[in-house]
Amino acid sequence: MPRYVILLLQILAASSFIVNFAYAGDAAAGKIKFSTCEGCHSVEKYFNVYPSYRVPKLGGQHEAYIQSALQSYKNGDRAHETMRANAANLSKEDIADIAAYLAQKDVFKGAANNVRSQDPVARGKEKAATCAACHGKDGNSAAPTFPIIAGQHADYITQSLKQYKSGTRKNAIMAGSVAGLSEDDMKDLGAYFAAQTGLEPILE
Ligand code: HEC
Ligand code: HEC
Repeated sequence: MPRYVILLLQILAASSFIVNFAYAGDAAAGKIKFSTCEGCHSVEKYFNVYPSYRVPKLGGQHEAYIQSALQSYKNGDRAHETMRANAANLSKEDIADIAAYLAQKDVFKGAANNVRSQDPVARGKEKAATCAACHGKDGNSAAPTFPIIAGQHADYITQSLKQYKSGTRKNAIMAGSVAGLSEDDMKDLGAYFAAQTGLEPILE
């Protein structure tokens, strides 16, 4: 192939590259901008609340698709309210940066090993060690004055823990147990105990 043809092909390739990536983002900047999204997207087995379904995986997704998806939330083509709120304030540059970050290949593999992306049940299991003395290891307490919490609804458990912490439910023993817990801890504990076999609903 003559030299000038090669050169021409190179120029064409380079220019189409520029056209395709007109808003080519900065992955490092995108990583920082994505931190507000991690609460949902970086938690393994995180569910949308209602209706219940898994939050989509984004790691390794096509850059152009991410950009278009975020634009769709911005312009209303996609109705999901939380995502609309999250996309609303993103500039074109933010969207490009985030898309560049998410589209990277191979960098997200093994992410399940870090604590953030462990599921709440696994995190709750670690935190439940301090509850075992009274409620039993899996929440099936042996002592009759210590309630069974295995199999209880996760949100009920979390709500109860919050009430002990705020003092709207008063119990000296439990007040001491929840004093050091964050809201995330309470959710993780709820998830863990709810996942154990124990209480059953009473259905007619
Ligand atoms: C409160 C939880 C939550 C937060 C925070 C959140 N997302 Fe989402 N995200 C979701 C859910 C749920 C969906 C699926 C929505 C739907 O059904 O359209 C979604 C969908 C998406 C999609 C579409 C994926 C696809 O395959 O179509 C993208 C892209 C996305 N989110 C990026 C982000 C970015 C970027 C942020 C931060 C600026 C963010 N999200 C913050 C819960 C969240
Ligand atoms: C020293 C013993 C003790 C420890 C430790 C303890 N609890 Fe309790 N827990 C109790 C007692 C006693 C009650 C009943 C209190 C009451 O009547 O409100 C209770 C009540 C509860 C309830 C409310 C149950 C219901 O059906 O309303 C939940 C949820 C709970 N504990 C979770 C936990 C978790 C999670 C931990 C660990 C972070 C923990 N507890 C640690 C003794 C303990």
